Amino acid sequence: MEAIERVYQFINDAETYFLATVCEDQPRVRPFGTVLLADGKLYIQTGKAKDVSKQIAANSKVELCALKDGQWLRLAGELVNDDSHDVKVAMLEKMPSLKGMYSADDDNMQMLYFKNATATFASFTGAPEVVTF
Ligand SMILES: Cc1cc2nc3c(=O)[nH]c(=O)nc-3n(C[C@H](O)[C@H](O)[C@H](O)COP(=O)(O)O)c2cc1C
Repeated sequence: MEAIERVYQFINDAETYFLATVCEDQPRVRPFGTVLLADGKLYIQTGKAKDVSKQIAANSKVELCALKDGQWLRLAGELVNDDSHDVKVAMLEKMPSLKGMYSADDDNMQMLYFKNATATFASFTGAPEVVTF
């Protein structure tokens, strides 16, 4: 399995992860659940009206942490905005509950993909494993 697929699978199975951004000199963190693998890119979704989106616009460096079966993943990288209609539709189809809040044609729905990403899989029992994509 390619590194990006493995990372996607882990986050998808974990269902909830915590996304950290930087706001001036203050870290900010919140729960997230959206994830999509499309066109070889790992996407997350948010709303442009949210503080999290404004923080990413000001500083695209983020880190997320997901936990599953005693193993955790830290994924650090930069997020890139992608206004592709197709990728918004794909996200809404994958997580239909989003349709109550977003549509592919509103001015709010935002898809962001990771670039220069470093993923570290860790547990209390084994050595950390680092993959990049
Ligand atoms: C389980 C769970 C999953 C969530 N997933 C997302 C998500 O994928 N994208 C999103 O924008 N907000 C998601 N939220 C809501 C955000 O955590 C919430 O809007 C948060 O306040 C956004 O951060 P901010 O206040 O810094 O903008 C989720 C909330 C929960 C409880």
